Order: sequence, then structure tokens, then C-alpha cells
Amino acid sequence: MTVAGDALAQRSERFQIRVRGLERSFGSQQVLGGVDLDLERGRINLVIGGSGAGKSVLLKLLIGLIKPDAGQIYVDGEDIVPLDDFALNRLRPKFGMVFQYAALFDSMTVEENVMFPLLEHRRRQLSRAQIREVARAKLEALGLVGIERKFPAELSGGMRKRVGLARAIVMEPEILFYDEPTTGLDPVATKNVDEMIQEIAEKLKVTSVVISHDMASTFRIGHRVSMLYKGQIIASGSPHEVLADPPAPLREFVETSGAVTLPPARELVQR
Ligand SMILES: Nc1ncnc2c1ncn2[C@@H]1O[C@H](COP(=O)(O)OP(=O)(O)OP(=O)(O)O)[C@@H](O)[C@H]1O
Ligand SMILES: [Mg+2]
Repeated sequence: MTVAGDALAQRSERFQIRVRGLERSFGSQQVLGGVDLDLERGRINLVIGGSGAGKSVLLKLLIGLIKPDAGQIYVDGEDIVPLDDFALNRLRPKFGMVFQYAALFDSMTVEENVMFPLLEHRRRQLSRAQIREVARAKLEALGLVGIERKFPAELSGGMRKRVGLARAIVMEPEILFYDEPTTGLDPVATKNVDEMIQEIAEKLKVTSVVISHDMASTFRIGHRVSMLYKGQIIASGSPHEVLADPPAPLREFVETSGAVTLPPARELVQR
């Protein structure tokens, strides 16, 4: 291991996840070409980028669903890249995943959906009645009462997202990943989801990693913002830091969205 690798292998109090030199191609298409990314413990980390920039691929790598061609992903100082499925299974309870379209099982009730991860992983420790109890408590914590017996198709999009979140937190993960949680929602529903992410981050003290291309949400809730562009992270820091002197693609992204007003570009100021 290199000197830099040694340092990264130390558990960092500030950063729960540290990614170095991550590369991944599909056929001849290189999607990630050396991603360096630090994600802050207990905070809301936004990873932004255009459609097709490789955000979902990055997320799949972070949770160990796919493997990179090169690079390291340190989670609490441990590189998860070399781990096989068996070893990854030991870490997976650390991760909770909230999918873009909630990804609930249509044939199961709300309650059964939320019980599902516990039935899969805690069958030996908990009875079905206890599992139901935990599921109900999570639903209640998210303000979902009285819909336990409903099916996903009977809920609004926003409610389905909440149920998806209840299912993601039922195993009490340390890190919660959200892939485009506000895509396809109107501005009010978007704000509700943002508040839900903030509420969960505070209540559960989790590290949140939110993949998004919604600039308004990004700068509303992000403690740390990183932009993925052409296979690399081109800006990273607090919203204030990244907006102070954004690289051109970030500037364009932010200005096109109209969500945040930027000061004039530095070249213009100098002229
Ligand atoms: N399993 C795969 N096989 C082949 N190509 C893939 C695969 N997964 C992703 N890609 C390609 O990688 C690129 C990045 O995809 P990705 O889904 O990560 O984009 P994204 O940033 O999440 O976009 P969006 O904002 O639209 O969700 C795309 O060109 C996609 O076609
Ligand atoms: Mg995606």
C-alpha cells in the first residue's frame, strides 16, 4: 500500500467514505475516469452532475453492487473494492438505499414492504410480531400512520417515497444513499422530500449521500456538494465554497437551473 493509501486506510472522523482514483468503463465507454471524492460523516453530501454523467454508476460502486476497473473506496478506513460478496454482506447493513422510484414491491402491502429487509436479515433474532412492531415504528417516525395495509399503487408518489425511506432505515443504517430522490416531483413535493432527508439526517445522525441534478434542493440541503463531470469530480466543498468560484461546467449547470444567483465569473470581474 502507498503512503497515501496508508493514510486513507486510517479511520477518518470527518470523512466516512473516501474514494480515490475510481475508474469504470462499460465496453469502450469510460464512465468514470479517476474519481476522488470525500463524503462527510453525519452530514448531507450532494453529488451532482448532468444526465449520463455516471452518478448512478458511482452510487452502485459505493454500495459494492458493481466493481471498479481501478481505484479504492474506503468506508471507515476499509477499502471495500477487494471484498467479495461474503465480506460485503458483513458491511451491507451499514448502507441504506432509497431508490429513484421508491422501488416498492407492488404485490406487498406498505407494512410488508418495510418488514421485508428485517424478514431477510433478522429472522433469527426477531419474531414476526417484533418485526412488524419495528416496521410500524419506522412508518410512524415518518408520519405514515394508517396506511400499513395499503398497497403501493394506492399511494401518492410522495408517500411512496416515504415508504421507500422507511424501508431503507428499518435496518438502522449508518449511511443512507438516495438516487435522484426528487426527480419527477413538483416544487412543493420536492421541498417535502428535502425536508424528509434533513429530518432523517438529524434524527438518525446518518451520513447522507444524495445524487441529484436538482440545483434548488442541492443548495438548500447540501452541507457538502461535489460535481461529477466527464468522469471526474471537478468541484467539491461546502455550497459556499463551490459557488464562490465555480468551474465553468458547474457555473453553467447552476445558471441554467436559475435556482441560485451567482456572482459574475472571475474573468469578467478582472476585465
Ligand atoms: N450496466 C451498464 N452497461 C452499459 N453501460 C452502462 C451501464 N450502466 C451505465 N452505463 C452507461 O454509463 C453512463 C452513465 O450512466 P448513469 O446511469 O450513471 O448516469 P446518471 O449520471 O445516473 O444519469 P441520470 O441523471 O440520467 O440518472 C451512461 O452512458 C450509461 O449508458
Ligand atoms: Mg442516474
